[in-house]
Amino acid sequence: MTEGGGTRVVRTRAELREALASARRPVGLVPTMGWLHDGHRALMRRARSENGTTVATIFVNPRQFNLATDFTRYPRNEARDVAVCEAEGIDLVWAPPVEEVYPPGFDTTVSVGAIARPLEGAARPGHFDGVATVVSILFSLVGADRAYFGQKDAQQVMVIRQMARDLAIGTQVIACPTVREPDGLALSSRNVHLGPDQRVAAAALHRALMAARSAWEDGERSADRLRDIMWETLTAEPLAAPEYVSVADGVTLRELDRVEGPALLSLAVRFGETRLIDNEPLGTGDGTTPRA
Ligand code: PAJ
Repeated sequence: MTEGGGTRVVRTRAELREALASARRPVGLVPTMGWLHDGHRALMRRARSENGTTVATIFVNPRQFNLATDFTRYPRNEARDVAVCEAEGIDLVWAPPVEEVYPPGFDTTVSVGAIARPLEGAARPGHFDGVATVVSILFSLVGADRAYFGQKDAQQVMVIRQMARDLAIGTQVIACPTVREPDGLALSSRNVHLGPDQRVAAAALHRALMAARSAWEDGERSADRLRDIMWETLTAEPLAAPEYVSVADGVTLRELDRVEGPALLSLAVRFGETRLIDNEPLGTGDGTTPRA
């Protein structure tokens, strides 16, 4: 921003535009749904280190929840989130009400094709339409030079890259490594719903990914064998109800028979009402994201 210090919180599109008019460039954007944790903080830190102005958005986007109960259950605490943004030196927070994002009469959906169909797209119908729609609105309103996303949601990064490329949006999409708890559980706003036993059991996601990675490092190339290793690790945990395990092409996300190039191991697991996802890229060199 032009004037020094302080985090400004704005609500309307007009206030956002006004606040950005004199912003020091480049502008870095960190879109979030709030309930901020160290994963979000890592994105903010990276954005801050690379940009003249950093903008975070806090918006629990109703369009990306395929289950109404998941939307109402989603944890919210704006005061705490703003304090986190302040601590991370964020210049501007956009925390809009729903009608500022989707004004009356809003009637457009951004629907990304093949990359959005498998995995989370298949498990959560409409989810990526909601994500692509809201993120394209955020990219347009903020006019960000760069936007920061977590590898934790690997398919989301790929969907957003495809959307930005196809719609000729100039925002560069940057993927940042997954931040984990000491036992390997990926930080997630949804972890707050886990009971103590479920929380311990949830380390099985990362254990399963690491077991498959280690087999791959030892030369295992059969995708079915790697899927079996993940499935067996998950089913050995009585509180875990695995939904899918996947060994997919790192660029197209098509399920593989054999792992010969960059690949993505991913899985979704339920613990009671709480659904968790995680992933691990194979063979990409940088440990963050498959090259597109
Ligand atoms: P949310 O789940 O709040 O996540 C915001 C960003 O933080 C996403 O890019 C996500 O991948 C990243 N993130 C979450 N957990 C992480 C972790 N453990 N390590 C690193 N990054 C992590 O993802 C969304 O919100 C929404 O779909 C959004 C993109 C904001 C659109 O509504």
